[in-house]
Amino acid sequence: MIEGNKAPVITFINMKGGVGKTTLCIGIGEYLANELEKKVLIIDIDPQFNATQSLLDKYELVDEYLSTFRKEKTIRKLFATTTDVYQRNAHIGKEEVIHEFNDNLHMVFGDINLIFDNNTMDNTRIKRVLKFIKSNSLKDDYDYILIDSPPTISIYTDASIVASDYYIVPVKIDKYSILGLTNLTNVIGNLKADAELNIKPLGVIYTNLDDKLTKKTQTLKDEFEKVENIGELYVFQNGTTYVRDLQVGLQGNISSHYKKSKDDIALICEEMETILRSEV
Ligand SMILES: Nc1ncnc2c1ncn2[C@@H]1O[C@H](COP(=O)(O)OP(=O)(O)O)[C@@H](O)[C@H]1O
Ligand SMILES: [Mg+2]
Repeated sequence: MIEGNKAPVITFINMKGGVGKTTLCIGIGEYLANELEKKVLIIDIDPQFNATQSLLDKYELVDEYLSTFRKEKTIRKLFATTTDVYQRNAHIGKEEVIHEFNDNLHMVFGDINLIFDNNTMDNTRIKRVLKFIKSNSLKDDYDYILIDSPPTISIYTDASIVASDYYIVPVKIDKYSILGLTNLTNVIGNLKADAELNIKPLGVIYTNLDDKLTKKTQTLKDEFEKVENIGELYVFQNGTTYVRDLQVGLQGNISSHYKKSKDDIALICEEMETILRSEV
């Protein structure tokens, strides 16, 4: 449960790629910050770092990322392998890792080189994001902390689950959508055995919906919602509809740049805030 004014940490996760996790995460984050004037931190923990790329594009920082940030100011800093005991407890200050696009929207950049660090030898690493948030009291600085997670089982999915209060599962309705969610439930279940988890589901959000569901899609959706474990999850009334330009548009992958998806995101944010308020 979230106390008073503390930011909830929400991870966007589904053990399936291409379901709209990143688009939803940055769409919500950017909208909350730039339209609703909330203070938002987005943490990109996916080695594919699509969230980072989209926001670097938007703020015309690609060159600076390549010349500077990539070397010293990304999520990788949190996961550096440490050997001696002194280093293990070394504090990493927020200014060392967080980039401020503007007053409201901040980010911990992702890093493709994370793929080289995915070993589980050092088991303190799944707590690194949690520790970073706690030791810098980041929940007091922000209204929302959003994490964009990778789709494959790794220490990075574990680390985002351990650090989060809630998870949102973006789901694209297709034949295999059930599998991603079943895998996710298993991962969370396994982690619970080893670590103290606070994470709770906030709900499923459908992405890439057709304006009008076909009969086939409706059937898949109904079947999906009947599956055990999934049936217990809240399903958001609002989802994102398919916007062709999001994939090919010159304006990039930012929902608020397109009228239709901006409207979708506005409704999702409203619904999310209502659910969170009722949780307090
Ligand atoms: N509402 C939408 N309409 C159209 N395309 C979308 C929508 N949401 C996501 N996409 C596209 O689907 C692809 C996968 O989305 P992405 O957010 O990267 O998924 P994930 O992070 O789960 O892999 C991307 O090309 C993205 O632009
Ligand atoms: Mg992604």
